[in-house]
Amino acid sequence: MSDLFNKCLKFTTAREVMAAGYYPYFHKIETAQGPEVIIDGQKKIVCCSNNYLGLTQHPKVVEASINAVRKYGTSCTGSRFLSGTIDLHEKVEKKFARFIGKESALLFTTGHHSNLGAISSLVTKGEYVITDKLDHASIVDGCRLSLGQMLRYRHNNMNDLERILSKFRETPKLVVIDGIFSMEGDICNLPEIIKLAKIYNARVMVDDAHSLGVLGKNGKGTAEHFGLESEIDIVMVTASKSLASIGGFIAAREEVIHFIKHTARSLIFTASLPAAQVAAIDASLDILQDEPERRVKLWENTNKMLEGFKSLGFNTKDSKTPIIPIHVGDDMKAFQMWRMLYDEGVFCSPVISPAVPEGEALIRTSYMAIHTDAHLDRVLNAFAKIGKNLGIISGTYKPRKASDKMPKSRIFKHLRITSKEIGDGSKKWMKNLFWRFGK
Ligand SMILES: Cc1ncc(COP(=O)(O)O)c(C=O)c1O
Repeated sequence: MSDLFNKCLKFTTAREVMAAGYYPYFHKIETAQGPEVIIDGQKKIVCCSNNYLGLTQHPKVVEASINAVRKYGTSCTGSRFLSGTIDLHEKVEKKFARFIGKESALLFTTGHHSNLGAISSLVTKGEYVITDKLDHASIVDGCRLSLGQMLRYRHNNMNDLERILSKFRETPKLVVIDGIFSMEGDICNLPEIIKLAKIYNARVMVDDAHSLGVLGKNGKGTAEHFGLESEIDIVMVTASKSLASIGGFIAAREEVIHFIKHTARSLIFTASLPAAQVAAIDASLDILQDEPERRVKLWENTNKMLEGFKSLGFNTKDSKTPIIPIHVGDDMKAFQMWRMLYDEGVFCSPVISPAVPEGEALIRTSYMAIHTDAHLDRVLNAFAKIGKNLGIISGTYKPRKASDKMPKSRIFKHLRITSKEIGDGSKKWMKNLFWRFGK
């Protein structure tokens, strides 16, 4: 008889990649989040953090968190809806709404919960939610939870968006986009999206997870970057990146927030954000406004890295932001490059198919205001050396030792199944995780 757990017993892909020494996930960081961390007892420069403004160890943020624990304890032990709302939640909601220029805001326990809650409560039966194919998984999850129908357009392709919008002119619909796309680092075409939304009667929601504190003169995100603050209907941000905490906001006109507050399952049926994390958001929002020099430094670092990678001959795709992907191509080469960078003391993330299209594997790098020139030079030197070694930039690939250039079949030589099966298994696993190139 078939058993529910059979799939778990058969799930060997991750163990095989671990055994081969190429497993890039769940590494244990033994120090605070900063430009350098200790992993496995060794110092690594971090090039995959979303701590854009570098506030996770800012004395004011740390102090605010400690004081909040002293006053409110360690947990709210209940949902916002019932016993879990404290005055601090409402204080930061008001502060955020004022900052972003919307009437009202609602604080969820994570950014993921914010997308789940807002999309699923707003888009209901007979209505449509239209997303970019490269939107974040939490947007996809919000669409899956919604009773409405999800439709997806090709990445940043405005003709494809118009093709979809024009089919449903009369039906209520929501367009949801990432402001900065989380893997590619490019920026959505907000002016055109807003133009089309007006023509075809759609509401627009922007996920500014990676844009808050980064884009716009005052760090308000994508709408400020384009001078379109009054034009977007809903802003979502997460507190787990520039705000050095965890949590997520949805901001919009008061009636919309009031509705979401009373219908979003991911708000009502989960415990609220603990005071320590709310206080960290509160302090970070102040610093974001009081220390604009951090954003200046973030952009200096970003421009240095974009120019540095380009002058070395790397393909950084359409990135114009602190998220800089390095195009590698082959999945196995991306794992290989990740490992070689790791051995050189650089910690970043490989992104393989189907999280990106087949043959478009990349190394995702991202930068912070607290990286120094010395850190960034070391990163560029490591990429130059390894990029040449792997034949990604000029110079031919000369493996340093046999294990550096292992074909798929040899990497998995200790396995009972063939490399083709592993390839397929690994794709299925990643596909379920990312679900972006699905339908
Ligand atoms: C674009 C985007 N939206 C939403 C989220 C979810 O935010 P959180 O990690 O705070 O739940 C993320 C996080 O990675 C993201 O990159």
